Amino acid sequence: MKRVFVADALKYENNIIRVCGWVRSCRSHGKLTFFDLQDKSGILQVVFLDRLSQETLKIVKKVRPEWVVEIIGTINKRPAKTKNPNLNTGAIEMVAQEIKVLSEAKTLPFLIDNKGYEISEELRLKYRYLDLRRERLRKNLKMRQEVFHFLRTYLKNNGFIEVETPILTKSTPEGARDFLVPSRLQKGSFYALPQSPQQYKQLLMVAGVEKYFQIARCFRDEDPRSDRQAEFTQLDIETSFMDEREILELIEDLMIKTAKEVFPEKKIKEIPFPRMSYKKSVKDYKSDKPDLRNNKNNPNELAFAFIVDFPMFEYSKDEKKWNAMHHPFTRPKTEKIEVIKKNPGEIYAHQYDLVLNGYEIGGGSLRIYKPDMLEAVFEVLGHKKENIKKQFGHLLEAFSYGVPPHGGIALGLDRLMAIFMGEPNIREVIAFPKTGDSRDLMMDSPSGVEKNQLEELELKNAQKRKKK
Ligand code: AMO
Repeated sequence: MKRVFVADALKYENNIIRVCGWVRSCRSHGKLTFFDLQDKSGILQVVFLDRLSQETLKIVKKVRPEWVVEIIGTINKRPAKTKNPNLNTGAIEMVAQEIKVLSEAKTLPFLIDNKGYEISEELRLKYRYLDLRRERLRKNLKMRQEVFHFLRTYLKNNGFIEVETPILTKSTPEGARDFLVPSRLQKGSFYALPQSPQQYKQLLMVAGVEKYFQIARCFRDEDPRSDRQAEFTQLDIETSFMDEREILELIEDLMIKTAKEVFPEKKIKEIPFPRMSYKKSVKDYKSDKPDLRNNKNNPNELAFAFIVDFPMFEYSKDEKKWNAMHHPFTRPKTEKIEVIKKNPGEIYAHQYDLVLNGYEIGGGSLRIYKPDMLEAVFEVLGHKKENIKKQFGHLLEAFSYGVPPHGGIALGLDRLMAIFMGEPNIREVIAFPKTGDSRDLMMDSPSGVEKNQLEELELKNAQKRKKK
């Protein structure tokens, strides 16, 4: 007999069907025993009558919550007064004939029939596969897919092509620390995991792709926070021949349509999204990511804004040097190299951030596409000429073979989802997030490795340190 998802049981009134899933709860009322049977589609009430065989009733008595079972029975309309309006299958129930236990379950380490915010997060993450049985998290996973699917479809329909870029790559200056991966074949050399696909997407513009996007995994070795993970997901976009206004309009349209399509209950506060200079934002809101909502307690208000006109460089008193406010590939608003070298603090950049309800959910810029300008910016940032060639020679060379003016943006999809779902942190919208000290408690990673693996990589010091 074909297995039927419980949500589809509605179509089988007065028919015998087979359902499979987890017993979420069992209640015994004298002659009747009720199970709530859960599968990926929902919950179905199953009733066992005492006229079943002794053998079957013995099994029914033994079953505990979270056991995995298969049940065959008839789908009946429920009497009017026992209908449950909170269940999608609340108008029906199954009267069971047969039950088979597929696997038993120990008592779970925590409850899963509530929102779960009060449970220690360490425990929830150690048993994430159980935590994910929780309705709230199932919904977060599902809605994440809805949003990703919408973004992909929108961009494809607007002429964008999704291109994957390498995970084993080379250090890119995005401002955070790199995760390094030792190379076995090139002893003593290291790959870096991408902080973002920044250089690859610019090289794709040299390749003539013109409109690129990728739902890209990024890696930054920084301390996690409620809106930061070492490993996170961006909607990464790059375009050729588009100016700053056109890029912002594209992102605005994408966000408006995503919200309308996937979260129709949400209200966008202001369209077009306000554009505010960095200077004004910092002056008026003491922040470069102002929360512009009318009512911060209203979960359905979305206050988007673009922050524009960022300074190109900021001076670090600690390091006694200029740093790029966004990244060094960002195009300054002047073409005069002499002025940039002389007065870096006065230069503005074609840089923009997208903020939503007080969070930075995206950042991007137009890029420098003239090699001499890129070299000048690297010089201001304190790179020596030889070093520029070594680190960025591939980009400078690529720009000598016909490079279109280009620019793009990356949206932090974990942050966007957390806001859409009204979650207090991005861990709630990531299937397998890491803890505050970047550990995966479920897999027990990071962890030690075999001695021969270290020997093969010639990482003797790591081996010694581990032994201590
Ligand atoms: P940026 O570094 O601003 O730009 O990153 C873009 C967006 O990614 C999100 N984000 C994060 N989300 C979770 N955890 C993190 N550790 C984390 N770091 C960043 C933020 C941020 O706005 N290559 C450029 C984009 C470009 O210029 O096109 C870049 O990565 O929401």
